[in-house]
Amino acid sequence: MDKNKIISDIRNAKTVDELNVIRVSVLGKNGIVTGALKSLAQIANMEEKKSRGAELNLIKTEMETEINAAMDALETAETNAKLKSGRVDVTLPFADDNPSGLLHPFTRVIDEVCEIFSSMGFAYATGPHIENDFYNFSALNIGPNHPARDMKDTFYLQDCENLLRTETSAVQIRTMETQKAPVKIFAPGAVFRNESDATHSPMFNQVEGLWIDENVTMQDLLSVLTTFLKEFFCTDEAPLKIRQHHFPFTEPSIEIDVRCEKKNGQIKIGQGSDWIELLGAGMVHPTVLKTCGIDAEKYQGFAFGCGLERLAMVKYGMPDMREFYNSNINWLKHYGFKYYNNPNNANGLNGN
Ligand code: PHE
Repeated sequence: MDKNKIISDIRNAKTVDELNVIRVSVLGKNGIVTGALKSLAQIANMEEKKSRGAELNLIKTEMETEINAAMDALETAETNAKLKSGRVDVTLPFADDNPSGLLHPFTRVIDEVCEIFSSMGFAYATGPHIENDFYNFSALNIGPNHPARDMKDTFYLQDCENLLRTETSAVQIRTMETQKAPVKIFAPGAVFRNESDATHSPMFNQVEGLWIDENVTMQDLLSVLTTFLKEFFCTDEAPLKIRQHHFPFTEPSIEIDVRCEKKNGQIKIGQGSDWIELLGAGMVHPTVLKTCGIDAEKYQGFAFGCGLERLAMVKYGMPDMREFYNSNINWLKHYGFKYYNNPNNANGLNGN
């Protein structure tokens, strides 16, 4: 056994694999050192056997020490080489050009509506989704036999007393009850009705408006709505058509259409020869004012309610209302907004 040759081979090994081959050839089951130890049995002279055995054990320990040291060095070198070649350059730009997600179009529309009504001096108001008969029906002058109470449209809770509000008009009652007059609020929020098709969803959103003071007239209603529609649809004109209607909580009651052009499935507000129905409104019924503890001889005013998805669908050309709540990633990517800017600047659209 040429000890020095083996040690020099160990020290010159270039890879962990190469060193392993040497290790097996020296210390393995059939290795040189192992073989020499085995052959001790053939030595008859005890003295000689002892000294040869001690010598071989020293060689074995020396080999093990050499191999372990060489193995440590090779493993460290190989790990370092791997780390170097696989290094991540954190200064490289993101390959994904859209890593931060998009605003849901509905978030955007709520922001637009809030900004416009706030700028006209309306305060933000809100109310619970779970209402009772008083706020959702009776205080709104909706009598016990009114069809709006029909189980087919209203989601009642199991206790049969509470229900999911069917219109944001319930917020009118809660606000007038606590604030009295004068009051000037807008209240966006979810409402619930048992219906579902391309233009109806069992949950949708409305914005309610209410302005009660000593001299608030129908003319104020029309000018507030015209201003809102012009701002929202970014148009210089928003001619309105007033149609007589009936709501139990307003008198007179009207529905309002706005002039538009329908072309290739798209609707453009402000000009053209068509009309699109956008909202219900009217002068708040004196009975409603009295129920809320407001002097109906001194105060009067208007209320209106408008579907928010409807506004969004018209403004951004969305054909199916149910997509608002489907979490369809392609729809969200198409209609989502990249960032906040002037909410009336349609260029904020993702642009796909
Ligand atoms: N709440 C009515 C609806 O859901 C809209 C409305 C609100 C009408 C306020 C008049 C006044 O259809």
